[in-house]
Amino acid sequence: MTVLVTGGAGYIGSHTVQELLKTGHKVAVYDNLSTGHGWAVPQDVPLIKADIADRLVLTEVLRNYEVEAVVHFAASSLVGESMTQPAKYYRNNVAGTLSLLETMQECGVKQMVFSSTAAVYGEPEAWPITEEMPLAPTNVYGRTKLVIEGMLKDFAAAYDLRYVSLRYFNAAGALAGGGIGEDHNPETHLIPLILQTAHGRRPQIDIYGTDYPTADGTCVRDYIHVTDLAAAHVLALKHLAGGGAPKVYNLGSETGFSVQEVIEKAKEITGIDFPVREAARRSGDPAVLVASAARIRQELDWKPVYSSLDRILRSAWVWETR
Ligand code: UFG
Repeated sequence: MTVLVTGGAGYIGSHTVQELLKTGHKVAVYDNLSTGHGWAVPQDVPLIKADIADRLVLTEVLRNYEVEAVVHFAASSLVGESMTQPAKYYRNNVAGTLSLLETMQECGVKQMVFSSTAAVYGEPEAWPITEEMPLAPTNVYGRTKLVIEGMLKDFAAAYDLRYVSLRYFNAAGALAGGGIGEDHNPETHLIPLILQTAHGRRPQIDIYGTDYPTADGTCVRDYIHVTDLAAAHVLALKHLAGGGAPKVYNLGSETGFSVQEVIEKAKEITGIDFPVREAARRSGDPAVLVASAARIRQELDWKPVYSSLDRILRSAWVWETR
């Protein structure tokens, strides 16, 4: 019995593959390598280079590998790009997932762990954010993930699909011991951009907005170590394997840090005083996003281990300077 990881050559997907192997699962990766990296998949793990919309290949893979559960990361995930190329996001994310779910159904595969996002909440009015809060995404990326959550719910009711949807806050950090880490092109995320600046690969880091209603005026986010995220997928699979009902969980460290605080901590850890520039707000950024992860802590006994800002930055710095 195999776990199929779609998007397993991507950042969070490849760290989840590591965690699945560590916990004794048989794994196959399915990735079209449009943004993922072949080098991020261990040599002894089968890598099928194909698109989730390719039902012939997918059917063959689900049958040949006797896939029991799918961990579904494959998606387009740039918020800014989603606003200018919505068709790409509806095609890859919504239509791609529909195709995947229908193929799974045909092949009798009934378990899915789905990669969702805090972007489904939009601009929340209170913190910490619980799963019951209003779902009002402010960008196309978040809307596609919310549509998929609805699709999962409907498939569960009609066709006995069982799923766990994980709403990630800000994934960061890299695998201890190196080998894999965050490598997007273009890079848009705060922590890798800060560390690339410290490393001299960028002239400065821009702070997008210093007039937010927060203590120091910069945006506050909940950074969660990618290995802690990965571990939650393994717990979600265990829940499903034990016959567990469909669930939706937030995944965050439950602690917020401002952009300014992350920069200060990065300066301390790297010992480098890199240039910082105050810039205009980036459109669509909520002031504060901090999770309540009480539900997954209580129900699946998930415990973040690596998610202090210190450990996140240290592991990401090892990766950056590898
Ligand atoms: N930021 C800067 N300068 C930069 C880059 C980012 O100040 O050069 C700021 C952003 O304005 C934001 C914070 O740093 O306040 C974090 O930005 P990221 O781009 O790293 O992450 P986001 O919070 O925008 O996005 C994350 C995930 C998305 C997800 C979103 C949910 O990466 O996939 O949370 O809101 F959709």
